[in-house]
Amino acid sequence: MPALVLLGAQWGDEGKGKATDLLGGSVDYVVRYQGGNNAGHTVVVGDQKYALHLLPSGILSPGCTPVIGNGVVVDPAVLLSELSGLNERGVDTSKLLLSGNAHLITPYHTTVDKVTERFLGKRKIGTTGRGIGPTYADKINRVGIRVQDLYDESILEQKVEAALDFKNQILAKLYNRRAIDAAKIVDELLAYAEQIKPYVADTTLILNNAIDEGKVVLFEGGQGTLLDVDHGTYPFVTSSNPTAGGACTGAGVGPTKINRVIGILKAYTTRVGAGPFPTELFDKDGEALRTIGGERGVTTGRDRRCGWFDAVIARYATRVNGLTDFFLTKLDVLTGWEQIPVCVAYEIDGKRVEELPYSQSDFHHAKPIYEMLPGWTEDISKAKTFSELPKNAQAYVKALEEMSGAPISAIGVGPGRDETIEINSFLS
Ligand code: GDP
Ligand code: IMO
Ligand code: MG
Repeated sequence: MPALVLLGAQWGDEGKGKATDLLGGSVDYVVRYQGGNNAGHTVVVGDQKYALHLLPSGILSPGCTPVIGNGVVVDPAVLLSELSGLNERGVDTSKLLLSGNAHLITPYHTTVDKVTERFLGKRKIGTTGRGIGPTYADKINRVGIRVQDLYDESILEQKVEAALDFKNQILAKLYNRRAIDAAKIVDELLAYAEQIKPYVADTTLILNNAIDEGKVVLFEGGQGTLLDVDHGTYPFVTSSNPTAGGACTGAGVGPTKINRVIGILKAYTTRVGAGPFPTELFDKDGEALRTIGGERGVTTGRDRRCGWFDAVIARYATRVNGLTDFFLTKLDVLTGWEQIPVCVAYEIDGKRVEELPYSQSDFHHAKPIYEMLPGWTEDISKAKTFSELPKNAQAYVKALEEMSGAPISAIGVGPGRDETIEINSFLS
């Protein structure tokens, strides 16, 4: 089982960090392939809680080599502070590998992200303000700065000047902001260069060799399927491809090398930021999911919007990612409801629709059609096998599996590493 992708099947925050960390002890490499420090992945090991933003969750497993692939956008200040934060807590980060082709988030990207959101007003996306969109925009516009540019000062100067020429016009003339000084940015970036240098590597070569040698490589997605710039709820999305294909472009590994694609799926649904969300709750049930589930953003501290499980979305995630398995998380949060509604289809303009509509307008009108499943009251957080779950919890999992189109191979019953029921091994 040399290469697996693990990704979010909904709108992010499904519990990818915990799932990756769980497998980290048995894999040789964990690779982030897209996104940046917009991600917030929580990992709980014993009584220690870690919030990772840019670093792959495999960094907490001593035998595992963490890799930041070419598809990731890297804020060098965040990278260094996350590394030193982990070092202070005794975590060895010396094995980290960083692609020389990854693009850098600079202070002008975060500035543009924030002023654009302000300018959009009511139409804003609700970004994390970390400069993600403007950095990917520069990449596609071919005016981005890559990690390797830190090691050629004259190229770096030329590139920063080229990127700022146009941006400064916009900042000054449209947003009424002061222009950004290219020389200052160059100096700031050069100050990071030596500290980052030991990690920089040809990660595509290393990962392909590792797979050919039979090593186990896990690609860890940030965000989620519905936040994908191609397959998500555009324009209320992030600016990268968290879906399975993104692992190929974002790490330089061909699709024929990937054996398994695991979708992390929360037993209910959450979303942060703006955009449509058919099963969103505005009542006491939504508040209860938020409180019991601890649904507050790891990156921005914003309250997450909460709602019931949406099987239409799960089916869609199976389709666009070619999922082989699901890892169902946070089943314990649903303990105590007498009945649990599950969205099985939508009603759009009076018609029943079973699949996610491709039209944005239709999706905005989608009303959930619910089926009620019986709940349970027993504490399930100590369950170690599927048969130890109450009958109604078993039936809930089986119903979700049937509706979602791929086997549920693991179930999370708490935030800790060991609070997991493994049904089928991901590594066999
Ligand atoms: P990620 O962005 O997908 O890694 O997810 P986040 O870390 O942003 O949010 C998931 C939250 O749920 C974190 O606080 C996890 O510690 C927690 N969590 C993960 N799995 C479970 C689970 O099975 N049960 C409970 N109660 N919490 C979980
Ligand atoms: P993890 O990896 C949930 C959302 C933002 C916003 C939109 C665009 O922890 O699951 P961006 O800053 O990326 O341009 O914002 O995407 N978003 C996330 N929502 N979890 C995340 O990451 C997210 N990363 C970005 O809230 O709506
Ligand atoms: Mg998160």
